[in-house]
Amino acid sequence: MVTTVTFVSTNAGKYREVRELLRPFGLRVRWKRRTLPEPQTAKIEEVVRSKLNAVRDVTGWVLVEDSGLFIPSLNGFPGVYSAHILDIWGFGPLFELLKRRPRAASFRAVAGLRRGRRIWLFPGEVRGTIAPRAAGKNGFGYDPIFIPEGGTRTFAQIPAAEKNERSHRSQALRAAGQLLASLDARDRRRRSRRTKARA
Ligand code: IMP
Repeated sequence: MVTTVTFVSTNAGKYREVRELLRPFGLRVRWKRRTLPEPQTAKIEEVVRSKLNAVRDVTGWVLVEDSGLFIPSLNGFPGVYSAHILDIWGFGPLFELLKRRPRAASFRAVAGLRRGRRIWLFPGEVRGTIAPRAAGKNGFGYDPIFIPEGGTRTFAQIPAAEKNERSHRSQALRAAGQLLASLDARDRRRRSRRTKARA
């Protein structure tokens, strides 16, 4: 039996990446489109805990994720407000703010798993810089303006598989996938021992 994980989010771009990232672990990902409350806090972990609280009614393995673009020269802005800022601003005002400031930035993600009362959190981070202008058509969100460390192209200019090798989300999701796969293997061993004992 394949373990199914329910990913709760409204973001189709995230869902596509999560599905690909968990595939190697033999997990099936079901997408539940639901807006989850986000508390007023700058801490991504607190947002994830709050999202996990809001999915208590979902049975089985439940996965949530929160992420954002953090720019140290802007005191971490837009951070946990990344989605909202992109909606209302687009990229223009960010370029304006960074004209005379260091352009270092990082994407951070925290994946949260819930099963019954137990929860687990998995962080991930990728460093880079904000490009001088938007470039590329792949990905979503801030991908056209983020150049990962050591590269010359934005996340939106490289294939999805290449982004998935190193992204903040891939680090967080792979750790979650490893936990799920190891617990799944343990459950299988237990089931098979029980079946043998009954035979
Ligand atoms: P939230 O986690 O739903 O609050 O949304 C996080 C927002 O951060 C997304 O809507 C994007 O705008 C941005 N973001 C997070 N991860 C990525 C990424 O991998 N690429 C581009 N933008 C991202």
